[in-house]
Amino acid sequence: MDFLMFQLEKDSLIPLYEQLYTEIKNAIINGRIEEGAKLPSKRKLAEYLAVSQTTIEFAYSQLVSEGFISSESRKGFFIQNLEELALLEQNPPLIVQDESTTDIYSVDFSPGKIDMDSFPFTIWRKYSKEIISESNKDVLSLGHPQGDYVLRQQISSYLYQSRGVKCTPEQIILGSGTEQIMPLIIRLLGTEAIYGIENPGYPLTHHLLFEDKEKTVPILVDNEGVLISQLERSNATVMYVTPSHQFPTGAVLSATRRTQLLAWAYQSENRYIIEDDYDSEFRYTGRPIPSLQGIDQNERVIYLSTFSKSLMPSLRIAYAVLPKQLIAQYKQKYSYYAATVPRIDQQILAKFMESGYFAKHLNKMRKIYKRKLEIITKTIAAYDPLVTISGEQAGMHLLLTFQSMKPESELIARAKQAGIRIHGIQEYVSTKQNPFEKPKIVLGFGGIEAENLETSIEQLMDALEIKKLL
Ligand SMILES: Cc1ncc(COP(=O)(O)O)c(C=O)c1O
Repeated sequence: MDFLMFQLEKDSLIPLYEQLYTEIKNAIINGRIEEGAKLPSKRKLAEYLAVSQTTIEFAYSQLVSEGFISSESRKGFFIQNLEELALLEQNPPLIVQDESTTDIYSVDFSPGKIDMDSFPFTIWRKYSKEIISESNKDVLSLGHPQGDYVLRQQISSYLYQSRGVKCTPEQIILGSGTEQIMPLIIRLLGTEAIYGIENPGYPLTHHLLFEDKEKTVPILVDNEGVLISQLERSNATVMYVTPSHQFPTGAVLSATRRTQLLAWAYQSENRYIIEDDYDSEFRYTGRPIPSLQGIDQNERVIYLSTFSKSLMPSLRIAYAVLPKQLIAQYKQKYSYYAATVPRIDQQILAKFMESGYFAKHLNKMRKIYKRKLEIITKTIAAYDPLVTISGEQAGMHLLLTFQSMKPESELIARAKQAGIRIHGIQEYVSTKQNPFEKPKIVLGFGGIEAENLETSIEQLMDALEIKKLL
């Protein structure tokens, strides 16, 4: 084999070592280099090809790691058994692309997306630099199992001021997302607990609880939130609710039902409410509604929230405030668990909150989402009464109800054909029977740029053939 025949293109975007690796690999597969043959030494080949020895070293080590050649100490590099190599080539690994990673949608109205143009990258980077430094070596060690005290302190004062939540930092546990904290709470409440879940509701509660149907009771939601009268007739002992902005209908739990819900919890020793306040930072109309935890007099509310909406879903920081009797049990049972949130992220966030940037960021985001909401309501108003909006008082999603003859699944399919991703309310229903007569779409608007919103809504109305009906 004449190794000078290898054609390496120095101006190519493909690195030289990769070109050499491909040339040798192909030569082995085509049989141009025979099994057992010795490759030139790295130094010699580097001289022949007028490239650096590192280039040869990289190419050889890639071939070794893929089994095309073997390295024998002090002797050199030898071509491996061809049959095995042929097999390798005949069966290249099959890479199946997951649909969710394929971008078939040009517009995405999924709930759970945030505005990505307004993240304070500069300040976050500044605090990252300060935290990741030799003067802060302690950040390398495992911190408190419930999360760093400085962050829990920030969270407790933020919660008191903004949500009326009364707690000490000792009552707070941090976790890498609501989805990581919920199973811990379920284990803490024990096997006797029977869960009321909102119907329609947050899919996580379906996944976590609904598999065990004996232990779960779906409770219907209407435009005032979850139906407490139905809860009272059930055998549930723990009720999971999203009272500030019900997921996915957007309903706000009415004052009467809040009082009824707390009264229900007080009727028996083992009853609890899990209050998931996931997007309460963003309320656009009326006075802020205090949390259930803040008005609870008997330590029956487990308060849950997350930074997924207020900062970014990828941060993976959520927290729970446990009533005093439960935090005592938690410490007893779970003190051997290390915190699931990296301390570096915890400390960056603590600084971000302490310096007042979090409050500023929330104010800014509230204005941005409010503006997006105004654009949507204005655009949709032109389609009233064929399409109506509800659940728009808070958060980054709302509900569209269609006076359509077409079933919900057809609306979703039509939108998909036009490259628009929407979710129907049926996706969130946990009973066999769909409680809704009319098709409803859960419209997340957080991730769509304000300047594209009107066009995106018009495209959607076009795709759903609503325009024709006007
Ligand atoms: C009802 C509800 N709770 C919690 C969350 C956040 O979950 P996590 O903290 O796991 O990101 C979401 C996110 O979309 C949600 O819709």
